[in-house]
Amino acid sequence: MKNLHNALQLKQLYLLKQMGYAYTDLAPSELEMEAADLPDSLEALGQIVTGCHLCELSKHRHKTVFGEGNPRADVMFVGEGPGATEDSTGRPFVGRAGELLTKMIENVLLIPRSEVYIANIVKCRPPGNRVPTESEAFTCRPYLLKQIEMIQPRIIVTLGATAYRYLTNDTSPISRVRGNTIQARNYTLIPTFHPSYLLRNPSARKMAFGDLKTIKELMDSHPNRNRGS
Ligand code: URA
Repeated sequence: MKNLHNALQLKQLYLLKQMGYAYTDLAPSELEMEAADLPDSLEALGQIVTGCHLCELSKHRHKTVFGEGNPRADVMFVGEGPGATEDSTGRPFVGRAGELLTKMIENVLLIPRSEVYIANIVKCRPPGNRVPTESEAFTCRPYLLKQIEMIQPRIIVTLGATAYRYLTNDTSPISRVRGNTIQARNYTLIPTFHPSYLLRNPSARKMAFGDLKTIKELMDSHPNRNRGS
Protein backbone atom coordinates (compact mmCIF):
# COMPACT_ATOMS: atom_id res chain seq x y z
CA MET A 1 0.00 0.00 0.00
CA LYS A 2 2.80 2.39 0.98
CA ASN A 3 4.69 1.51 -2.23
CA LEU A 4 1.63 2.29 -4.32
CA HIS A 5 1.22 5.63 -2.53
CA ASN A 6 4.90 6.51 -3.15
CA ALA A 7 4.66 5.50 -6.82
CA LEU A 8 1.58 7.70 -7.29
CA GLN A 9 3.30 10.61 -5.57
CA LEU A 10 6.35 10.17 -7.81
CA LYS A 11 4.12 10.08 -10.88
CA GLN A 12 2.49 13.30 -9.74
CA LEU A 13 5.92 14.96 -9.30
CA TYR A 14 7.05 13.86 -12.78
CA LEU A 15 3.83 15.27 -14.19
CA LEU A 16 4.47 18.63 -12.49
CA LYS A 17 8.05 18.61 -13.80
CA GLN A 18 6.77 18.02 -17.35
CA MET A 19 4.47 21.00 -16.86
CA GLY A 20 7.52 23.17 -16.16
CA TYR A 21 7.67 23.19 -12.37
CA ALA A 22 11.21 23.16 -10.98
CA TYR A 23 12.35 21.58 -7.73
CA THR A 24 14.23 24.13 -5.68
CA ASP A 25 15.08 24.96 -2.13
CA LEU A 26 12.62 27.13 -0.28
CA ALA A 27 12.27 30.62 -1.68
CA PRO A 28 14.77 33.02 -0.09
CA SER A 29 12.04 35.11 1.50
CA GLU A 30 10.78 32.04 3.34
CA LEU A 31 14.27 31.23 4.55
CA GLU A 32 15.27 34.64 5.76
CA MET A 33 14.84 35.24 9.42
CA GLU A 34 14.35 38.86 10.31
CA ALA A 35 17.44 40.95 11.00
CA ALA A 36 15.12 42.93 13.29
CA ASP A 37 14.80 39.89 15.59
CA LEU A 38 18.55 39.76 16.18
CA PRO A 39 20.32 41.46 19.12
CA ASP A 40 21.55 45.04 18.91
CA SER A 41 25.13 44.34 19.95
CA LEU A 42 27.90 42.91 17.80
CA GLU A 43 29.09 40.77 20.69
CA ALA A 44 25.69 39.18 21.27
CA LEU A 45 25.20 38.69 17.54
CA GLY A 46 28.63 37.05 17.33
CA GLN A 47 27.60 34.57 20.02
CA ILE A 48 24.46 33.66 18.09
CA VAL A 49 26.54 33.10 14.97
CA THR A 50 28.97 30.89 16.92
CA GLY A 51 26.08 28.61 17.88
CA CYS A 52 24.28 28.77 14.53
CA HIS A 53 23.23 25.49 12.90
CA LEU A 54 20.67 26.85 10.47
CA CYS A 55 22.29 25.44 7.34
CA GLU A 56 24.47 22.64 6.02
CA LEU A 57 27.65 24.71 6.27
CA SER A 58 27.61 24.46 10.06
CA LYS A 59 28.22 20.71 9.81
CA HIS A 60 31.60 21.14 8.15
CA ARG A 61 33.04 24.24 9.82
CA HIS A 62 35.77 24.34 12.42
CA LYS A 63 35.12 27.94 13.41
CA THR A 64 32.51 30.48 12.46
CA VAL A 65 33.95 33.66 10.95
CA PHE A 66 31.80 36.51 12.21
CA GLY A 67 33.82 39.48 10.97
CA GLU A 68 36.24 41.94 12.52
CA GLY A 69 37.33 45.54 12.55
CA ASN A 70 36.22 48.91 13.75
CA PRO A 71 32.60 48.68 14.98
CA ARG A 72 32.17 52.28 13.80
CA ALA A 73 33.99 51.87 10.51
CA ASP A 74 33.24 54.23 7.64
CA VAL A 75 34.14 51.53 5.15
CA MET A 76 32.97 47.92 5.28
CA PHE A 77 34.24 45.15 3.01
CA VAL A 78 32.00 42.16 2.29
CA GLY A 79 33.46 38.93 0.93
CA GLU A 80 31.89 35.67 -0.10
CA GLY A 81 32.71 33.23 2.68
CA PRO A 82 35.62 31.92 4.74
CA GLY A 83 38.35 29.80 3.19
CA ALA A 84 40.53 27.20 4.92
CA THR A 85 42.73 29.65 6.87
CA GLU A 86 39.72 31.67 7.99
CA ASP A 87 37.90 28.47 9.04
CA SER A 88 40.82 27.45 11.25
CA THR A 89 41.45 30.90 12.75
CA GLY A 90 37.90 32.32 12.95
CA ARG A 91 39.09 35.56 11.28
CA PRO A 92 38.05 36.92 7.86
CA PHE A 93 40.53 37.40 5.01
CA VAL A 94 43.69 36.13 6.66
CA GLY A 95 44.88 33.80 3.86
CA ARG A 96 46.60 34.84 0.62
CA ALA A 97 43.55 36.77 -0.60
CA GLY A 98 43.44 38.50 2.77
CA GLU A 99 47.06 39.57 2.48
CA LEU A 100 46.27 41.24 -0.83
CA LEU A 101 43.14 42.89 0.58
CA THR A 102 45.14 44.20 3.53
CA LYS A 103 47.76 45.67 1.17
CA MET A 104 45.05 47.34 -0.89
CA ILE A 105 43.50 48.91 2.21
CA GLU A 106 46.78 50.07 3.65
CA ASN A 107 48.43 51.24 0.43
CA VAL A 108 45.47 52.94 -1.25
CA LEU A 109 43.05 53.92 1.50
CA LEU A 110 46.06 54.79 3.67
CA ILE A 111 44.48 53.49 6.87
CA PRO A 112 45.28 50.38 8.92
CA ARG A 113 43.13 47.33 8.21
CA SER A 114 41.78 47.56 11.77
CA GLU A 115 40.10 50.85 10.81
CA VAL A 116 37.65 49.18 8.38
CA TYR A 117 35.19 46.35 9.08
CA ILE A 118 35.48 43.08 7.17
CA ALA A 119 32.75 40.45 6.98
CA ASN A 120 31.36 37.83 4.62
CA ILE A 121 28.03 36.81 3.15
CA VAL A 122 28.25 33.39 4.86
CA LYS A 123 29.92 32.92 8.21
CA CYS A 124 30.97 29.29 7.73
CA ARG A 125 33.34 27.86 5.14
CA PRO A 126 31.65 26.17 2.18
CA PRO A 127 33.35 22.75 1.76
CA GLY A 128 36.12 22.87 -0.84
CA ASN A 129 35.62 26.65 -1.08
CA ARG A 130 32.62 26.20 -3.35
CA VAL A 131 30.29 29.14 -3.90
CA PRO A 132 27.59 29.30 -1.21
CA THR A 133 24.17 28.18 -2.43
CA GLU A 134 21.31 30.63 -2.59
CA SER A 135 19.66 29.05 0.41
CA GLU A 136 22.89 29.18 2.48
CA ALA A 137 23.45 32.81 1.52
CA PHE A 138 19.90 33.88 2.32
CA THR A 139 19.86 31.93 5.57
CA CYS A 140 23.01 33.75 6.72
CA ARG A 141 22.21 37.17 5.27
CA PRO A 142 20.27 38.54 8.26
CA TYR A 143 23.50 38.34 10.29
CA LEU A 144 25.25 40.53 7.74
CA LEU A 145 22.30 42.92 7.49
CA LYS A 146 22.32 43.27 11.27
CA GLN A 147 26.07 43.95 11.24
CA ILE A 148 25.51 46.66 8.62
CA GLU A 149 22.64 48.12 10.65
CA MET A 150 24.83 48.36 13.75
CA ILE A 151 28.07 49.51 12.13
CA GLN A 152 26.36 51.99 9.78
CA PRO A 153 29.25 52.26 7.31
CA ARG A 154 29.09 55.09 4.79
CA ILE A 155 30.67 52.90 2.13
CA ILE A 156 30.23 49.17 1.51
CA VAL A 157 32.62 47.43 -0.85
CA THR A 158 31.44 44.05 -2.13
CA LEU A 159 34.27 41.75 -3.16
CA GLY A 160 33.38 39.63 -6.18
CA ALA A 161 30.18 38.55 -7.88
CA THR A 162 28.75 36.44 -5.04
CA ALA A 163 28.97 39.15 -2.39
CA TYR A 164 27.42 41.70 -4.75
CA ARG A 165 24.63 39.39 -5.83
CA TYR A 166 23.59 38.23 -2.39
CA LEU A 167 23.80 41.63 -0.75
CA THR A 168 21.81 43.38 -3.46
CA ASN A 169 19.73 40.60 -5.08
CA ASP A 170 21.01 41.95 -8.42
CA THR A 171 22.29 39.25 -10.76
CA SER A 172 24.15 41.60 -13.15
CA PRO A 173 27.61 40.32 -14.06
CA ILE A 174 30.40 41.73 -11.94
CA SER A 175 32.11 42.98 -15.11
CA ARG A 176 29.15 45.32 -15.67
CA VAL A 177 28.76 46.68 -12.12
CA ARG A 178 32.39 46.74 -10.97
CA GLY A 179 33.68 50.18 -10.08
CA ASN A 180 30.21 51.76 -10.15
CA THR A 181 29.18 53.99 -7.28
CA ILE A 182 25.70 52.85 -6.32
CA GLN A 183 23.71 54.94 -3.90
CA ALA A 184 21.73 52.70 -1.53
CA ARG A 185 19.41 54.07 1.14
CA ASN A 186 21.95 54.24 3.95
CA TYR A 187 25.32 53.78 2.25
CA THR A 188 27.23 54.00 -1.00
CA LEU A 189 27.95 50.62 -2.53
CA ILE A 190 31.06 50.02 -4.59
CA PRO A 191 31.42 46.54 -6.10
CA THR A 192 34.91 45.44 -7.00
CA PHE A 193 36.75 42.22 -7.83
CA HIS A 194 37.40 39.54 -5.22
CA PRO A 195 41.08 39.48 -4.15
CA SER A 196 41.25 35.73 -5.00
CA TYR A 197 40.32 36.66 -8.57
CA LEU A 198 43.06 39.29 -8.55
CA LEU A 199 45.59 36.68 -7.43
CA ARG A 200 44.63 34.52 -10.42
CA ASN A 201 44.33 37.48 -12.82
CA PRO A 202 47.01 40.05 -11.98
CA SER A 203 46.06 42.13 -15.04
CA ALA A 204 42.76 43.04 -13.30
CA ARG A 205 44.58 44.56 -10.34
CA LYS A 206 44.87 47.95 -12.00
CA MET A 207 41.07 48.20 -12.22
CA ALA A 208 40.65 47.09 -8.60
CA PHE A 209 43.20 49.65 -7.42
CA GLY A 210 41.22 52.24 -9.43
CA ASP A 211 38.11 51.21 -7.48
CA LEU A 212 39.99 51.62 -4.22
CA LYS A 213 41.05 55.13 -5.32
CA THR A 214 37.37 55.97 -5.91
CA ILE A 215 36.68 54.80 -2.35
CA LYS A 216 39.54 56.93 -1.03
CA GLU A 217 38.16 60.00 -2.84
CA LEU A 218 34.74 59.33 -1.37
CA MET A 219 36.24 58.94 2.12
CA ASP A 220 38.13 62.21 1.73
CA SER A 221 35.09 64.09 0.44
CA HIS A 222 33.25 63.74 3.77
CA PRO A 223 34.42 64.47 7.30
CA ASN A 224 35.46 61.17 8.81
CA ARG A 225 33.36 60.38 11.84
CA ASN A 226 35.93 57.93 13.25
CA ARG A 227 39.02 60.03 13.27
CA GLY A 228 37.39 63.34 14.09
CA SER A 229 38.85 65.10 11.01
N1 URA B 1 37.47 34.82 0.78
C1 URA B 1 36.34 35.41 1.25
O1 URA B 1 35.43 35.71 0.50
N2 URA B 1 36.28 35.68 2.54
C2 URA B 1 37.26 35.39 3.40
O2 URA B 1 37.11 35.68 4.58
C3 URA B 1 38.42 34.79 2.88
C4 URA B 1 38.50 34.51 1.57
